[in-house]
Amino acid sequence: MEFGDLIKGAEAEGKEKHVPVIEIDRGHRKGDVDIVRVIVGKQIPHPNTVEHHIAWIELYGVKKEGQVVDLGRAAFAAGYANPNARFQVPVAEFNAFCALAYCNIHGLWQNCIEME
Ligand SMILES: [Fe+2]
Repeated sequence: MEFGDLIKGAEAEGKEKHVPVIEIDRGHRKGDVDIVRVIVGKQIPHPNTVEHHIAWIELYGVKKEGQVVDLGRAAFAAGYANPNARFQVPVAEFNAFCALAYCNIHGLWQNCIEME
């Protein structure tokens, strides 16, 4: 087994939605910041109880020369905080963003988006 075998994507999605959705909001005016938002359960909310919840989200960026940067992690209080995290990132420096989400019952889930 390899670590990658543990990580599931959209093809493994069942009735509950675990794949982290990545949204980019580039700053439009001078002085504005770029935001990368990562959400689990955007369309259909994932359960959020002590017994079953999304415990954390991590965001990675891939730079133009291929370097992988760990951009940050958000951890959530089960039953209180929904898995919706906002990272302030200089989007233009990256070719792609990838996110990981961990459900305490259903394991690790990933998604990536490429910038054009
Ligand atoms: Fe789950």
